[in-house]
Amino acid sequence: MNTVSYGLPYVGSKNLIAEQIIDLIPSCKHFYDLFGGGGAITHCAVLSGKWDTVHYNDFDGQTVEYFQKALDGKWDTSHIYSRSDFHDLKEINPFVNYVWSFQCKGGTYFIGEEREASKPLEELADEYVRARIERVKAVGSIPANKVVVTNKSYDKVNVKHNSVIYVDPPYVDTLDYRIGGIDYDKFYDFCEHSKTLVFISSYWLPSDRFIPIRSFVKKNGFTKSACVEKVFIPKCQFNLYVRKCE
Ligand SMILES: C[S@@+](CC[C@H](N)C(=O)[O-])C[C@H]1O[C@@H](n2cnc3c(N)ncnc32)[C@H](O)[C@@H]1O
Repeated sequence: MNTVSYGLPYVGSKNLIAEQIIDLIPSCKHFYDLFGGGGAITHCAVLSGKWDTVHYNDFDGQTVEYFQKALDGKWDTSHIYSRSDFHDLKEINPFVNYVWSFQCKGGTYFIGEEREASKPLEELADEYVRARIERVKAVGSIPANKVVVTNKSYDKVNVKHNSVIYVDPPYVDTLDYRIGGIDYDKFYDFCEHSKTLVFISSYWLPSDRFIPIRSFVKKNGFTKSACVEKVFIPKCQFNLYVRKCE
């Protein structure tokens, strides 16, 4: 179990298994986190010291702004945002939209109106939001010169020589992200045709094309339910993977 929290509060965060994932991936010069989201894997990759540069990328501009400004320590983490502040700001301020929302999914205030009426807002914020804010501050302590941030589709990122790639795409049919689902056939082709070793987080991938190299029982931080999540590599990269791990 991690002793440190990694990345921002974000739906689908790999915070709880970040260290185990990073342990699986061989070190070299560059690490690419192509579906970066809240940046749990980027954060853990930087702290591991296994790569000279860690490249964070996400297609959603709001998510990238959330991560970049956290890295730069630019969010106002001291203000208590009321329900009306939240609704005024959620479209233009990703920190408010995620940190001050229900289950960090964005769009809905972190607490229902009935519960809000039961206690002062400061107390509720301490109970539900304080730990999230500490995670935002922790991202601000990553050495920013170790991270390169981009806002592209995963297949448009220019991957340098001497790299490894990690991908954590949205699950099939998920409605959790502002950016719609991806074309999975195209994604599978991208992984198989990559000359760079690719590590893929997923519950399932087609077994004729991918092999799992590790399984994790992952607890949902919100619902506390458990599920088995895997890290896969393309079958055609197996020999490359074995060589790089020697
Ligand atoms: C499962 S989340 C990643 C969570 C991340 N690993 C973390 O620990 O916080 C998937 C991310 O993929 C992003 N995304 C969706 N389509 C994308 C694309 N075509 N290229 C890059 N990122 C994309 C979403 O915006 C979302 O942030």
